[in-house]
Amino acid sequence: MVYITNLAEYKDQQVTLKGWIYNFRSSKNLYFLEVRDGSGICQCVVAKDSVSEEAWEAAESLRQESSLEITGRVVEDERSIGGYELQVSDLDVIQIAKDYPITLKEHGVDFLMENRHLWLRSRRQWAAMRVRNEIIYAIHTFFQERGFVQMDAPVFTGNAAEGTTNLFETEYFDEQAYLTQSGQLYGEAMAMAHGLIYTFGPTFRAEKSKTRRHLTEFWMIEPEMAFYDLEMNMDLAEDFIRFVVKRVLDRRPDELDILERDTAKLKKAVSENFPRISYSEAVETLRSEEMADMLDQMVEDRRTEKATLREERQEITKERGQAKKWRKAQIDQRIKDIAGRMDQIEEDLRNIPDWRASALNFRWGEDFGGSDETLLTMQYDTPVLVHRYPADIKAFYMKRDPEDENLAMAVDMLAPEGYGEIIGGSEREADLDTLKKRLGEHNLSEEVFSWYLDLRRYGTVPHSGFGLGLERTVAWLCGLDHVRETIPFPRMMGRLTP
Ligand code: 4AD
Ligand code: MG
Repeated sequence: MVYITNLAEYKDQQVTLKGWIYNFRSSKNLYFLEVRDGSGICQCVVAKDSVSEEAWEAAESLRQESSLEITGRVVEDERSIGGYELQVSDLDVIQIAKDYPITLKEHGVDFLMENRHLWLRSRRQWAAMRVRNEIIYAIHTFFQERGFVQMDAPVFTGNAAEGTTNLFETEYFDEQAYLTQSGQLYGEAMAMAHGLIYTFGPTFRAEKSKTRRHLTEFWMIEPEMAFYDLEMNMDLAEDFIRFVVKRVLDRRPDELDILERDTAKLKKAVSENFPRISYSEAVETLRSEEMADMLDQMVEDRRTEKATLREERQEITKERGQAKKWRKAQIDQRIKDIAGRMDQIEEDLRNIPDWRASALNFRWGEDFGGSDETLLTMQYDTPVLVHRYPADIKAFYMKRDPEDENLAMAVDMLAPEGYGEIIGGSEREADLDTLKKRLGEHNLSEEVFSWYLDLRRYGTVPHSGFGLGLERTVAWLCGLDHVRETIPFPRMMGRLTP
């Protein structure tokens, strides 16, 4: 079988493709079929006088998403998507599709989510899933090349790892069980056997919040390293993200192009070092006069932009009356784009006062909210590492800062452009008695965690690790504004099907 992605190897040769009709246009004696085969899209030109009568009739019967086999000569054509087109000599219909619900016009997101099983065929969704795949491949490559052993942590667990508020409970015969929130604790056990390990698996959080960053089922990658301190942990996290971003830029340029991703912004994460600031420094930044000024400037900029866009809209609306057909279409598109941007501006203008209040009144000891993270990351072009959080807002297993008992040796990596936390990690408490004390402070039972405490009884060592959220990483690299488009079948509050 020949796939569209490999057409360059078949220049001027006859090939047969198998696929689906993505879109089509016709003129009197010609059909322009956009055929997709999973690997790409190719324009196939059917000329009435170059095919049999049956083939021409078959072409006339085609509808969106009909499946077919199509044969023709591969011709280089710069204007074509992918650079090649097929001059068709024969075609065989496999099935004429029923009326396909997703047309190439715009649909509401609820409708698309209901039809997620079909929506996956659309070009942008297709591109996002291929970026996701590249990220997965890059993650395995990075760790495998550095001697890490991949391990699978259990999904059914008897204990909470990341707080007890967002646990999914389930029955396990006559015991209470939970769906895992994190493979970390098991990863720590495995690291004591293999030194360097990583998990790559599904994790679950009963998140009651409907935000663009939260799923109830998401995939996490959790490396755990014996003999690593916080500094080494941060170095690894930075090298890791740089590697993944570079691979996606190098290997998925076409997909990023379909997604209209501004890659200049991603390139910074490859070429520049990631700043590292402490939580306390981050709080100072939020509360600073510069932050207030930046937000005021933002309001000003949005207002100016709004006025400029309004003017442009007036002008092109006037022009539209006498415009030629092609220009009319161009104007209509631009008017739609302006409307989209205007909505965004209005939303920002409504939100900025809240963001401002949240940032300026931020009190040391609180956790950053979504807007605080966004404002912090706006100061940088690359991801930023925030370390040494107040211990009170972090998990029981984190080591305290030897220089300040109130701080946990934690690190979060915040992605730029408002994508927020993609990594959470820490150095782990390695001392048996201290860890027992922490369990007590968090109202967690020593009995349930006795196996975990064994790791501190038998040859305990300093160790560290972190967890990367796959979907948030996909959202950032693809430039998507919601994690629902980053996983084939998202699970969120209120969404269990398809
Ligand atoms: O910060 P978190 O909760 O850290 C842990 O679970 C640690 N056990 C990791 C470790 O040290 N081994 O989660 C890690 C990452 C977050 O930074 C975020 O990217 C992602 O997992 N994440 C979510 N992604 C989507 N939906 C949710 N509800 C998420 N919760 C966390
Ligand atoms: Mg976290």
